[in-house]
Amino acid sequence: ISMADESKEFHGLVLQLINPEQRETALLELSKKRESFPDLAPVLWHSYGTIAALLQEIISIYPMLSPPTLSPHASNRVCNALALLQCVASHPETKAKLMNAQIPLYLYPFLNTVSRHRPFEYLRLTSLGVIGALVKVDDTEIVNFLLQTEIIPLCLRIMETGSELSKTVATFIVQKILLDDAGLTYICATAERFYALSFVLSSMVTKLLEAPSVRLLKHIVRCYLRLSEHQRAREALRQCLPDALKDQTFAAAIQSEDAVQRWLTLLLKNLNDPAAPAATGTVAPTASAASAAGGAARTAAVNLPTIPSGSSGAFGYASVPLASANWN
Ligand code: TRP
Repeated sequence: ISMADESKEFHGLVLQLINPEQRETALLELSKKRESFPDLAPVLWHSYGTIAALLQEIISIYPMLSPPTLSPHASNRVCNALALLQCVASHPETKAKLMNAQIPLYLYPFLNTVSRHRPFEYLRLTSLGVIGALVKVDDTEIVNFLLQTEIIPLCLRIMETGSELSKTVATFIVQKILLDDAGLTYICATAERFYALSFVLSSMVTKLLEAPSVRLLKHIVRCYLRLSEHQRAREALRQCLPDALKDQTFAAAIQSEDAVQRWLTLLLKNLNDPAAPAATGTVAPTASAASAAGGAARTAAVNLPTIPSGSSGAFGYASVPLASANWN
């Protein structure tokens, strides 16, 4: 069939979304074919009633979240709606609109579920996919939105308890947030926040010894490397980086992963280097970003007591009251 016919078919399917009778089939067809219609996102966003219909799909399963009664069928149906939202979240023309309309917040109740059953696991994974699409391309406004709406604790819990794939996407989201200066500052603003992340990262490393996953390890290492660029975090990591990352435990697993090897080497170098390390971003930091980071590091150095280098315990600061004042 011709491109014009195909485009007509797509527009027809989009229009069917506002008809409750036709919606389920339209959701399925559109989510299956979404890759072959590059303008699907703006069409979804600008066509009458469509986004409201997707939101209605989402809200309609809230009553099944607690107590957990979501059926596989209902989960599939809402995941098809989420797949369309993922298109909107990926598209450069619509992602800011999605964020400004606060629509990602409607997915947080899904991320907040804990049931291990397939319909819930699939729902969490698909919801993470939407957030993952939002953070894929660096965008400080998206990062600020996600920080303000407290996505981090939701990601941390999935990193602790989710399936390997959910853990990977949740860790990817945290990685992308950390790579933004606002994200690193947020996580390192209090000891509680830093240790919440560091505890989850290290427990994931422990679990990787039993159930290896290179793609998950990759994001974990990248998170640690980024943390090691923050002075206070670097000092804490000297005490609480898992041994498995310091010795050759994962050498065989990452032997064909040049990037991970480089990140791990750089991480260990940052921890061993008493001086502040160079930033490791893919682009050179701008003068203002560099001076802001330097300024923050200097302020911290002035305000904080130095932690004795031989301080005991895996968590160097654990004996110090976990107050922000001690951390900052
Ligand atoms: N309101 C909490 C805070 O700002 C949110 C939070 C809970 C959190 N657990 C976290 C933030 C772990 C970062 C890391 O601290």
